[in-house]
Amino acid sequence: MEIFRKKTVKNFDNDYAKSSLKKKLTSFDLAALGIGSIVGTGIFVATGQGAKMAGPAVIISFMIAAITSALCALTYSELASMFPVSGSTYSYSYVAFGEIIAWIIGWDLILEYLVSAAAVAAGWSGSLNGILSDYGIKLPSMLTKAPISGGIVDLPAVLITAVVTWLLYIGVSESAKINDAIVVIKILIIVIFIALGVTHIKAANYHPFMPFGVNGVVSGASIIFFAFIGFDTVSTASEETKDPEKDVPRGLALCLVVVIIMYIAVSLVLTGIISYKNVSIDNALPGALSHIGINWGSALVGVGAVVGMVSTLLATLYGQIRIFMVMARDGLLPNVFAKVNKKHSTPGLCTILTGVVTAVLAGFLPLNMIMELCNIGTLFAFALVSLGVIVLRVTMPEVKRKFKCPGVPFTPIITIFCCGYLIYTLPVITWIRFLIWLLIGILIYVFYGYKNSKLKSK
Ligand code: ALA
Repeated sequence: MEIFRKKTVKNFDNDYAKSSLKKKLTSFDLAALGIGSIVGTGIFVATGQGAKMAGPAVIISFMIAAITSALCALTYSELASMFPVSGSTYSYSYVAFGEIIAWIIGWDLILEYLVSAAAVAAGWSGSLNGILSDYGIKLPSMLTKAPISGGIVDLPAVLITAVVTWLLYIGVSESAKINDAIVVIKILIIVIFIALGVTHIKAANYHPFMPFGVNGVVSGASIIFFAFIGFDTVSTASEETKDPEKDVPRGLALCLVVVIIMYIAVSLVLTGIISYKNVSIDNALPGALSHIGINWGSALVGVGAVVGMVSTLLATLYGQIRIFMVMARDGLLPNVFAKVNKKHSTPGLCTILTGVVTAVLAGFLPLNMIMELCNIGTLFAFALVSLGVIVLRVTMPEVKRKFKCPGVPFTPIITIFCCGYLIYTLPVITWIRFLIWLLIGILIYVFYGYKNSKLKSK
């Protein structure tokens, strides 16, 4: 069937060789890109929501989300090491399952990246407001809240998206350098939070440990999963990487290990220094420090969070733009989006469009809604990646895998189960919104992609 037409590995080699993007990133750069993309609104903001849902047992929510993410990273790395080209899961599915499935996953990834970029911008705006109001500066709420939350537009979220889009427009090397610097700040801020808080831990705050039972813990995990999203950004940059087959799995592993250790430590300290009932939903980490009287620490962590979230936004938008570009290059979206700008060697039009859509989402939708939608899209994509690993071991055993996921088929099956279970705990309205998004995507494929696909004209 035509809709299941597949790309071959040779197609990818051609794309990689013909690509006019610069190839200079190393595994360390990729890990920095990953950390830049992962650590952001999730740890600084969603931790508060998780603690309200799970109590001190949010530590277990973090562990469940971490295990799910680590499993996803294992299966993901195998695919990434097979096909060194940007576009991530979308590209891999083009080989594993054929065009229609690849399109659905690509469309789903657009949901993941665009929506999570919007969530990060909205979270950034919330934290900025927190700091400003600590210093007695009150921005008008009409201009800092989405319409559903009682405002007109979240203007700081729109403005930060515009600035980051411009950085990406002028080129990856400038942006990657800025990103590296911010990643260092972000790690430092988290270490400072842990160091300041650890001596103030009171065992009494850990009781009751699980006030909302197992359900609270698992629902908490389905929100906390947001804090881990972004590790796949690493492989979307493989086309700009020196030795993608080695560097991508290494970069992924490095960034995930660092993140998991930091997050578990943060959740232990947060719920140890303050009762879960007093955790601030908008400003979890700085709020906890000021609660125990360390105001300078609170200000420092708040400013660091605001700076740090910029790099999350940078990396997430970067990933989205590259996926968009590859889908356009394949003819499934208009080809004009795939054009690489000569002066900056970046996909210019695609960058601008992505920035505009993100700004609109961030300016006009509430954070919770955005986060849940992002999580369902991501979990769905990773379940399909895991399925892809099993299928490809059978259908393409000859393709070299620089990284082999251990325990196939069991590891991918457990990964699919974990992703499915977290999806199951999300609200039904989120499933419905997700299905509507998929339906729109299928219509676009039927009326545009199917006819314009590059594979068809061959
Ligand atoms: N994981 C990213 C964040 O926490 C999306 O903001």
